[in-house]
Amino acid sequence: MSANGAPARPIAIIGGTGPAGMGLALRWARAGETIIIGSRDAQRAEQAATAIQRRMGRPVPVSGMENKAACAAADILMLTVPFEGQASLIKQLKPAMTAGSILIDATVPLAAGVGGRASRTLGVWQGSAAQQAAELVPEEVSVVAAFHNVSAELLGGDNPLDCDVIVCSDDADAAQLTRELAAKIPGVRALDGGKLENARIVEQITALLIGLNVRNKGHAGIRITGLPPAAYL
Ligand SMILES: NC(=O)c1ccc[n+]([C@@H]2O[C@H](COP(=O)([O-])OP(=O)(O)OC[C@H]3O[C@@H](n4cnc5c(N)ncnc54)[C@H](OP(=O)(O)O)[C@@H]3O)[C@@H](O)[C@H]2O)c1
Repeated sequence: MSANGAPARPIAIIGGTGPAGMGLALRWARAGETIIIGSRDAQRAEQAATAIQRRMGRPVPVSGMENKAACAAADILMLTVPFEGQASLIKQLKPAMTAGSILIDATVPLAAGVGGRASRTLGVWQGSAAQQAAELVPEEVSVVAAFHNVSAELLGGDNPLDCDVIVCSDDADAAQLTRELAAKIPGVRALDGGKLENARIVEQITALLIGLNVRNKGHAGIRITGLPPAAYL
């Protein structure tokens, strides 16, 4: 049960032991969410969960499991793995995904994965990493693209963030739920980025942000301005 007595609805963070997954786990743990950190190695997942527990300084519903077990135990799946591992991992996890699940994909197809620069992206046949994910999950699983432009370094800190999260999906309900999760992170505003095909634009922005970070030694994010307040969650 969650703090307010509602049934716990876990979020499984697949590949959650890296900076992006750990940052999201920390922020959502602070927001009272139930988190399962997934890893290819169950022990590494448990160690990551323990690290979050220590960071929180009080018992919180954060556990660690091997990716497949984490996937089977949740119907909100947050995918935070490098592009080079994304397709094979989704294929491996497919049998463990339950109908009606949501896969939130933060994958950026960086050229660094094949020995290129982190400030460049790779062409993905389907149009984006998120669309590649959508092609690989079971039909009854919705894919949402989000969190590409958020600095993992800042997510893993204690201060409110100064950035917006653009959420793209062909499933309006899944997108809404993802925007609500994004808005639980202090300082983050969530925006409807339209259809999943727009993920190709959002993924590309990350490469630009990485270049800005390298040149300026910073942790760049994005803010979308000029929309009516109702556009921001
Ligand atoms: N870092 C950022 O600031 C940031 C911001 C926005 C989006 N992203 C995107 O979010 C994703 C994760 O970023 P990250 O920096 O956290 O990545 P990462 O540290 O390179 O990887 C995250 C985790 O993925 C698992 N993993 C690594 N290679 C794998 C493979 N070949 N197959 C399956 N699992 C693998 C590892 O966990 P185990 O070894 O425990 O399985 C690793 O701890 C990337 O696609 C990145 O582009 C990152």
